[in-house]
Amino acid sequence: MFEAADEAVKILKQYFETDLEIGRKRDYNDLVTNADKQCEAKISEIINNYYPEHNLLGEEGGDRKKNSDYVWIVDPIDGTINYAHSVPIFCVSIALEIKGEVVMGVVQSPMTNEKFRAVKGEGAYLNDKKISVSDTEYLKDSLLVTGFPYGAKDNMDHCIDHFVNFIRLGLPIRRLGSAAMDICYLACGRFDGFWEINLNAWDVAAGYLILKEAGGKVTDFFGKDYSIYDKQILATNGRKIHDEMIKVLGKAYK
Ligand code: IPD
Ligand code: CA
Ligand code: CA
Repeated sequence: MFEAADEAVKILKQYFETDLEIGRKRDYNDLVTNADKQCEAKISEIINNYYPEHNLLGEEGGDRKKNSDYVWIVDPIDGTINYAHSVPIFCVSIALEIKGEVVMGVVQSPMTNEKFRAVKGEGAYLNDKKISVSDTEYLKDSLLVTGFPYGAKDNMDHCIDHFVNFIRLGLPIRRLGSAAMDICYLACGRFDGFWEINLNAWDVAAGYLILKEAGGKVTDFFGKDYSIYDKQILATNGRKIHDEMIKVLGKAYK
């Protein structure tokens, strides 16, 4: 997993701020570059060399179904729009799921040389330092982060209303453009709460484990148990903030 992430980082550094070949996917602003494709192909090749019998689920079509209990979940660039605009906030995210449970994850940020990683039951690390979530208790003292799906203009699942409801509380809110980085920044205490809709398993799988291992809490917007295949994610440091955020998110459904 680390070898694949390191190789991906090399490719990302090599193509950063160069003339990229840019394609568009489902939405006009849903971009894919030659760097995304090359990165995913490299990760897939490395994993396949070690574990040819494992499944792989990659954002850029690298879906390999081998009827295995082991699934590698890969986002070659989380933050492609940043990457395509030479904004240095993006990362590669790789996770391993065994029998439906994420057991290992890495999120690596090439431009800040930060590697977030976790193995289930063994804590979470940023480079060689063990990390944990913040101890901020209340929403009023929190720094929040969120993101918007492609096509957010349609306000699906009240995504614009949620943002308005939080911003109206006068809270500082960031939007980095990389869900994996958002969650890892929460895991190491830089942020206190994160919410978003319509993310995919490759955006969240590694970050989810890193956050859990760092002591964070993850549910849907109503406080129900979360799976990386769900469409709503509410992630916090697990303090009173979590219930306070559920209340704010609930306003849009009344
Ligand atoms: C996107 C980023 C962004 C989130 C989008 C994702 P991509 O992933 O994680 O923060 O708001 O919903 O699709 O397209 O850069 O891999
Ligand atoms: Ca992504
Ligand atoms: Ca991506």
